[in-house]
Amino acid sequence: MPNIKTKNLTMPNFPATFGESHFCFVASSDHEKLVKVIHKTYEFFIQIREKNGTYLIKADKITRPSQVVFVHQAMRDFRDLCGCEVLFSNIDSHKYKTLKSYAALKSISYFVDAFQYDKELWVEVGFGSGRHLLHQAKAHPDIQFVGLEIHKPSIEQVAKQCELQEINNIALLDFDARIFFEFLASNSVGRIFVHFPVPWDEKPHRRVISQDFIQESLRILKPEGTLELRTDSDKYFHYSLGEFLRLNKATLSIKKNQELAISSKYEDRWKRQEKDIYDLTLTHHDSDEAKEKIGKLAFEKGYDFATINKNFVPTLRKDDSYFLHIEKMYQIDTHEGIIKVSFGSSFKNERAFIYLSSDKTQYFPDNVLATKANQKAHDSMKEWLNEIQK
Ligand SMILES: C[S@@+](CC[C@H](N)C(=O)[O-])C[C@H]1O[C@@H](n2cnc3c(N)ncnc32)[C@H](O)[C@@H]1O
Repeated sequence: MPNIKTKNLTMPNFPATFGESHFCFVASSDHEKLVKVIHKTYEFFIQIREKNGTYLIKADKITRPSQVVFVHQAMRDFRDLCGCEVLFSNIDSHKYKTLKSYAALKSISYFVDAFQYDKELWVEVGFGSGRHLLHQAKAHPDIQFVGLEIHKPSIEQVAKQCELQEINNIALLDFDARIFFEFLASNSVGRIFVHFPVPWDEKPHRRVISQDFIQESLRILKPEGTLELRTDSDKYFHYSLGEFLRLNKATLSIKKNQELAISSKYEDRWKRQEKDIYDLTLTHHDSDEAKEKIGKLAFEKGYDFATINKNFVPTLRKDDSYFLHIEKMYQIDTHEGIIKVSFGSSFKNERAFIYLSSDKTQYFPDNVLATKANQKAHDSMKEWLNEIQK
């Protein structure tokens, strides 16, 4: 994670531009400040915390783009703009100086507004080092691949490999697969790969495979399409088998210690430890009703920030189908500010900021899909804003 520790920090007058970065505003809460940066096409927050007379400057985790080189460049610009006397920093490494956007790396807006495919889709959930995804894409040029991953360094590495190996049939997305599946069209996917998912034995609600995920997978799979789990974890295998068997009707296949044409990093490790590896495949036979395509959530109007800030208390709203946690307020000036929120369902939770002023209200990053749970949280958010504004 790029970071800077500095003895001093002279904030500029916002907005300010330095190098290729534009710094729009600073928003302050009790313990931290967020500086909004626009660097090339990327918009994110730099987070500043003061402790014992020193400042720790980092990129905020929620808004940080997948390509860390742009964060490094923006932080170098910020350091130089603020005349920091640096005590420690890791942002000058040469490896982070090639500023290049990779074509394979897509944003959720691309999927909502521009993604069109006439080829069959295959989706890999949590592709990690990408060995399997890259191998499949090269072996099947007539298939359009979508790779979903939440670990940003892996995404950047695989995007780079797509370019080096001239692979053009992969779209990579930094997004939680459990949420993204609600966005995909019914009957559109030939194969879904879930290889070596994190077992989450202590926190089973964080597992990728759940009844909800299985139902969404069946909806997006074409007739004869397959959901393919490969795991070294006995517990995860038995748990998933149990979840698949809860279906009224299922065609399942189980294979043990089957060699594939390509072995992932994790697989190599488990093989060295002589662990058993299980493949559990669910085949879908039916065709599902088409579902209306979901878009992104947006607010229709602005709110009075000053009143909302005055009346704010952290708030949790929930029922069985959604939750909304309104966590924290940041003030930009008396008329505008930022709210930090988390929301979704217990299986698919997200975090975002909401920019608030009397002119407009907007999610940041502006990438919240209108899934069922998110829509409920969004409606609840609007109710809360209207109530607290009175
Ligand atoms: C144990 S690694 C396996 C990586 C790769 N499939 C392999 O076989 O080497 C699991 C990967 O799944 C990713 N992951 C976990 N939950 C996810 C989710 N909800 N959506 C997308 N990716 C996820 C993690 O970031 C991690 O890279």
